Amino acid sequence: MKIIKKLDELNKILEPVKNTKKSIGLVLTMGNIHQGHLSLVDKARSDNDFVVVSIFINPTQFNNKDDFKYYPRTLNTDIEKLEISNCDLLFLPELTEIYPNGFSTEKTVTRYRDILCDKFRPGHFEGVTTVVGIFFELIKPTNSYFGEKDFQQLKLVSELVKIKKYNINIISCLSIRDQYGMSLASRHTIFTEVQRQTFKKLSKKIYNFISLLKQKKIKLDFQILKKDLLEIDINKVDYLEIRDEKDLEITNSFNDSRLFIALYIDKIRIIDNFKLT
Ligand code: PAF
Repeated sequence: MKIIKKLDELNKILEPVKNTKKSIGLVLTMGNIHQGHLSLVDKARSDNDFVVVSIFINPTQFNNKDDFKYYPRTLNTDIEKLEISNCDLLFLPELTEIYPNGFSTEKTVTRYRDILCDKFRPGHFEGVTTVVGIFFELIKPTNSYFGEKDFQQLKLVSELVKIKKYNINIISCLSIRDQYGMSLASRHTIFTEVQRQTFKKLSKKIYNFISLLKQKKIKLDFQILKKDLLEIDINKVDYLEIRDEKDLEITNSFNDSRLFIALYIDKIRIIDNFKLT
């Protein structure tokens, strides 16, 4: 695996790959590589001739300064994991390579907005779609891989590709879940033991709620779940909603829909979604 930081090195390496019409698979990350990222790299490896992974902690998508400051930075172990995963190129650009003209962002995508995370993290998706667009234009991959854990992000990125007419396939990949059924996420690696125990209890509450709903033993009332979450000291809930997978509209139906959650354990924001059928 080659590791590079500069755009001119990137272009030099990608030129022969493109000239020989080889396919390029791209996995964009902000580091703290876990099994979820590695599953995207595996899929990219099996679909493409050449696999690029990037690690770039994108400042413009953090609407909270502390979240950016405390975001886990684990480059050495990330490199070790990616070496084993057989990726061809690890791109670690510096801020000035990606944002040569300062941190400006663009609101390109207007669909799937003002709901879910967009409602609670102003500016976040402008930052995401801007940086993803910059990487897409620099690398011009054949396929790019995104996890379903960030379901709204996946939708916005797919829309970005349509709007900008990028010739890139967005491949959506299933979440990789821990032993309690929760999607893996970089932020979970900074849990203290007490927070980890709360997280475990959270998973039980959620799966119990879903199971009761499915058996029609309770009616769809998120106050019940919220009350349950208070018992385990989760008192900041951004949203608990069932939405349709296609258009992200609120629905009462369990067909092709998911339970979407965003909440906090202390200052750590947890998001996940659970398919209902
Ligand atoms: O999902 C992420 O880690 C980030 O939002 C992404 C897609 C790498 C853009 O910074």
